Amino acid sequence: MKYQIKLQLLFARLFSLRRSIVRRIHRIIHNSKYEYLGEGKDGIVYRHKFEGKIVKFLSSYGKRNIVFTDQFIQNINSYYGYDYCERIGSKILSRDESLCHIYELKRSEVLPTAIMEICSLQLYLLKNGMLIWDFGYSAPNYMFSKSGKIKWVDINSNAILLIGQSKHIHDRHRLRKLDDQLIVILLLSHIARWLLNDLNIEKLVSSFLRGKLDDSEMLDYLIAKYDECGVDLKEIKRLPLATALGWEELKQLFSHKDILSVKVYEAADIDSANYTENGVVIKGYQNFEIKSNEVVPIDTGYNFANTKAKFEIIDDIFMKLNLSSATYLDVGCNLGLYVYLASVKYNWAATGIDYNADYISLCNQVSNKLNLETQFANVKFGDVAGQYDITSLYAVIHHLYARTEDLSGLEMICEKLGAITQICCIVEFPTEHDVKGKKWSSLAGIANSYAEDKFVTEMSKYFKRHERRKGVINSRPFFIFFKS
Ligand SMILES: C[S@@+](CC[C@H](N)C(=O)[O-])C[C@H]1O[C@@H](n2cnc3c(N)ncnc32)[C@H](O)[C@@H]1O
Repeated sequence: MKYQIKLQLLFARLFSLRRSIVRRIHRIIHNSKYEYLGEGKDGIVYRHKFEGKIVKFLSSYGKRNIVFTDQFIQNINSYYGYDYCERIGSKILSRDESLCHIYELKRSEVLPTAIMEICSLQLYLLKNGMLIWDFGYSAPNYMFSKSGKIKWVDINSNAILLIGQSKHIHDRHRLRKLDDQLIVILLLSHIARWLLNDLNIEKLVSSFLRGKLDDSEMLDYLIAKYDECGVDLKEIKRLPLATALGWEELKQLFSHKDILSVKVYEAADIDSANYTENGVVIKGYQNFEIKSNEVVPIDTGYNFANTKAKFEIIDDIFMKLNLSSATYLDVGCNLGLYVYLASVKYNWAATGIDYNADYISLCNQVSNKLNLETQFANVKFGDVAGQYDITSLYAVIHHLYARTEDLSGLEMICEKLGAITQICCIVEFPTEHDVKGKKWSSLAGIANSYAEDKFVTEMSKYFKRHERRKGVINSRPFFIFFKS
């Protein structure tokens, strides 16, 4: 028995090794002519570099399902699917040159349009006895064309259900029977992945489809997730999405574009704020005591952001700047610690901004109570206007990349930092080797260019020189970029 299991494991490993070798060879062969776009179980998709057309090379799994694929292609019109599809051996061709992935765009802006398009597509397919149930969790199963239309790219049998026919249930192993709730849960999961950037979704959906999580557990999770982010999608819960009526109603719902506006991606990390005789002791992500004439860090907090250790690094940077007066902006100021430091100890005109209103509201309360001259505002990095002598971004840049903003590239972030800074910009940069640096910058779903050397190259376009310092942990160095 033991040997049998070992043998099975060995076969599984050999199989996946063979698959990855075949894929590599495939890529090498096609590299000169084709740009790699993505791959799934059913094949690899390339864009022809010179002709612009999309070419899909089917895997043996894809080829096995070709009858079904053909049926889908015949049923989907060119508005939603490929402009022109033709099977040549194992290739499916499309003449559409302008397709791009949703994560190359501002997701919060395009997602409502995508959902509207999906509604229309489902209504069209339902007339032909088909329904899409797999919307894509590791990558969306559709792409965007320049004209803002979606084109369905996952055309293999797993993504589509044949309904109203003899087989109401999909032949995929252990897949459950189609019903309204199934589609509701899968659609809400898709939106949670691509709008709320929830990386857990892929695993949860897979457990759900295998029956390890039931409908109510999955719905509870999703509703809590949406609530946390301030998005109200509870209406979708009751829609009969296995029918045309449901998709009609959903279309109505999504015609209000602001339905997907996200408040925050993560609840504020605030434990307590205790008012003492002449100050306030604040505990949470940052831990310190603030008085009208003094800021004292407390030796606690996450190991990667121990308040005392980080405070000492930043205090030293401020001191060495040796500026008797300056304007200062801290982006992602959190509980306000470095804004207080700049104002109380260095006498700079200090402002803190954070996209999370809960942090800003506490900062304003404390500031008023102690009569401090600090300014706080609930503003996102992308909306910052004006210029400041010194700007700072401590452990925030990886959030701007693809999580709380859609600046999926360091180019735009660095350009903005260059534009709002007059003397110097201080950045704590969680590198591509940092656990969270890696996690949040990978949300987009595609291989990205988030890396320390790329960051320095981009910043050097707007700043003349820089210094690099060791941070609280090795994967979070500090940089000081100077304009002159
Ligand atoms: C990891 S915490 C770092 C807090 C603080 N800078 C520090 O180093 O102690 C990230 C902070 O950035 C804020 N944030 C995230 N995205 C933001 C955005 N787009 N604009 C402004 N603040 C943002 C979060 O609310 C949070 O307070």
